[in-house]
Amino acid sequence: MTSDPQPVHLSDYRPFPFRVEGAELTFRLNPSATRVLSRLHLVRQAPGDLRLDGERLEVLSLSLNGQPLSLTPDATGLTIPAALIPEGPFTFEAEVRIDPAANTALEGLYMSGGMYCTQCEAEGFRKITFYPDRPDVMAPFRVRIESDLPVLLSNGNPVAQGTGWAEWHDPWPKPAYLFALVAGDLVAHRADFVTRSGRPVDLAIWVRPGDQDRCAYAMDSLIRSMRWDEEVYGREYDLDVFNIVAVDDFNMGAMENKGLNIFNSKYVLASPETATDDDFARIEAIIAHEYFHNWTGNRITCRDWFQLCLKEGLTVFRDQQFSGDMRSHAVKRIEDVLTLRARQFREDAGPLAHPVRPDSYVEINNFYTATVYEKGAEVIGMLKRLVGDEGYATALDLYFTRHDGEAATIEDWLKVFEDATGRDLTQFARWYTDAGTPRVTVSDDWQDGTYTLTFRQETQPTPGQPEKPPRVIPIAVGLLNPNGDEIVPTTVLEMTEAAQSFRFEGLAAKPVPSILRGFSAPVVLDRKASPEERAFLLAHDTDPFNKWEAGRALAKDVLARMVTEGAEPGPDWLDALARVALDESLDPAFRALALRLPGEDDMAQTLHEAGVTPDPQAIHAARRRMGRALALRLRPQLPALFDTLREPGPFTPDARAAGRRALRLAALSLLTRLDEGQAAASAYRAADNMTEEVGALACLLDIGRGQEELGLFQARWQGDRNVMDKWFALQVLHAAPGEAAATAERLTRHPQFDMKNPNRFRSVMGALSGNHAGFHHISGAAYRLTADWLIRLDPVNPQTAARMSTAFETWARYDADRQAMIRGELQRILAAPGLSRDLGEMAGRMLG
Ligand code: PHE
Ligand code: ZN
Repeated sequence: MTSDPQPVHLSDYRPFPFRVEGAELTFRLNPSATRVLSRLHLVRQAPGDLRLDGERLEVLSLSLNGQPLSLTPDATGLTIPAALIPEGPFTFEAEVRIDPAANTALEGLYMSGGMYCTQCEAEGFRKITFYPDRPDVMAPFRVRIESDLPVLLSNGNPVAQGTGWAEWHDPWPKPAYLFALVAGDLVAHRADFVTRSGRPVDLAIWVRPGDQDRCAYAMDSLIRSMRWDEEVYGREYDLDVFNIVAVDDFNMGAMENKGLNIFNSKYVLASPETATDDDFARIEAIIAHEYFHNWTGNRITCRDWFQLCLKEGLTVFRDQQFSGDMRSHAVKRIEDVLTLRARQFREDAGPLAHPVRPDSYVEINNFYTATVYEKGAEVIGMLKRLVGDEGYATALDLYFTRHDGEAATIEDWLKVFEDATGRDLTQFARWYTDAGTPRVTVSDDWQDGTYTLTFRQETQPTPGQPEKPPRVIPIAVGLLNPNGDEIVPTTVLEMTEAAQSFRFEGLAAKPVPSILRGFSAPVVLDRKASPEERAFLLAHDTDPFNKWEAGRALAKDVLARMVTEGAEPGPDWLDALARVALDESLDPAFRALALRLPGEDDMAQTLHEAGVTPDPQAIHAARRRMGRALALRLRPQLPALFDTLREPGPFTPDARAAGRRALRLAALSLLTRLDEGQAAASAYRAADNMTEEVGALACLLDIGRGQEELGLFQARWQGDRNVMDKWFALQVLHAAPGEAAATAERLTRHPQFDMKNPNRFRSVMGALSGNHAGFHHISGAAYRLTADWLIRLDPVNPQTAARMSTAFETWARYDADRQAMIRGELQRILAAPGLSRDLGEMAGRMLG
């Protein structure tokens, strides 16, 4: 056994002692023996050896200023002793051989369906050649690709090409993690764009032949993103071409390589027949996200990987603003909060909790998390709320002018806000350095026309952080009078102490407070409100987020009592919800969200926080009873709700049409609980788009039917990888708790199951952990199956194995038997021979 991998610490950061003035790379592509020639032009900046990162490189030659170097690299790189390095500029050259066809980890240069592609973030470039593979070393790149394949792409602008070769030049200095190369038999979907200062840009989305008719939506999203960044942030594109490539084998969603974004094909390809409304919305958001990185990530990058949230939190915040502008801010905010709670609150409450800016890691790939991304975006939202829209705009302008071309830190980012607005952000910085979700409890008092709200904040200890000093929390509050009129419009209260009161004077009657409007801070709000008050806010709140939240809180109270006391849903909840569901003055998308019952994993976390050990089976059963009660309450209206929302004419993916389909499917799902699936079976056959096809199939699977439809689906779609992923996932996600593991196990034996393809692996194993009652079934079968497959995947693709292991992060919520079983599986993973640093770190942290 090798010794345990050592953690990297933020406090150990040292600047690199050399500058790279230019990097010239030549690739002679060959599936199992690609040659990479690199010539680096370097200048010394400070004393010291020259350390270059490099992993699994077969060295063919090394030289310094043309003189051969007889040095032997170690397992992680090459050290050129200071004594060998001349004063002044010098050139280092290397020729290495690598094996893209054997690269199943999908990091560095690899092959996917006959094409070559790269993934370098975070530390993949060192698997291509020797280089200072760290984000604060920025250089212009020249790339020559030699291959018989027809399409040869790299970063920047095309310089020249001939038969069997092409040359690219990227004038913008960039870190190696933004390097990209693609070579393949690809076709382009093209469009033109002219930036607002008049620069023409050739846009192209490159896909495998046959997929070119599924690129229109991604292209339209790209054009809207480019325009939006000009209009809202004043940011223009800066090259002559912008290329996007779709690949089937990809560990993540997409990657913002300069001028050459590489995408998981599921976030590019879409047609009404193959993509759901959620797919369309995600494509729009991810295209925007990667494009927005051109300024927030590429032009201004991160000094080191601890600063990851500098680019990710900001870019998520920007893509959320964009989606809100394109669609509905209210609906987008509710969806974003649902995701934040499901992923980030869950992470923050368990053994993997870490600050938005972590201060140590073993494997950086394990820190592309909901905390860095989604909480990182929430922190920026709070900052904007605190300094106001104008302060935010001024600060962002200053950020772009001050740091363009640099590798920056969170301190730089906060300093910009301090300088632009004059605000002291010392306490605010805790949002970056302290892990954990604050819990804010509220009490109120009413006396002589004065209404007082008292807040207390408390954050539980997280790994390595026992003390949690109070944070600045912007709490947006509005007050309604008993008639439902708003008497105090939204006001942002700034909480800075552990306990703090705020007074509203001169009121005629005791108001009803609407607290944390728009989800103004990523906290758990603990307010013991009566069902009447919640129903009142659900009916009257003018803040759409809190209107929805009131219904949600009501539903969670009802569900909690169903689980713990065996209660049945009473008329107050049913009537309040029915009113919203049937209120035609409301956006159908909002009504659909209101009808969505609380998730089982969310309920388990809520019960755990209330001191109740969650029983996954009991939660599942109660939630089904809840759905049936709602269906019975709405029975007379359901058929009409389903029929009248039918969209006339051809499918359009816009938010309005998608919202109508969402409500229609919510009605179908309720109907299915009453008619044994008759309506869903005919909806399946009548569906002319993937949203309804999948929606109807899910309804059927939920009640244990749909076998015939699964067969029809497979027969129709077996040639389409992205659509077949849905077929795999649906069966596992909607399996009965006792059958989920067996269903997943059976699917792993399906001829189209391939663990080397991350999408396919996730569609089975990710779906299994997404089926809460199935994953936590007391037999332990799902725990075992998941651990078996993580151990099997780890040597093939450690990054994806590590990511999927978060299925186990919630073990501490459950009863002793389940805890023992999960911990046993984590031990078994830790004991696996040759375990990767990635999965080893995750299992170790989860065991504590
Ligand atoms: N930087 C990518 C994004 O956020 C995510 C990513 C990370 C992709 C690491 C691949 C590898 O857009
Ligand atoms: Zn990103």
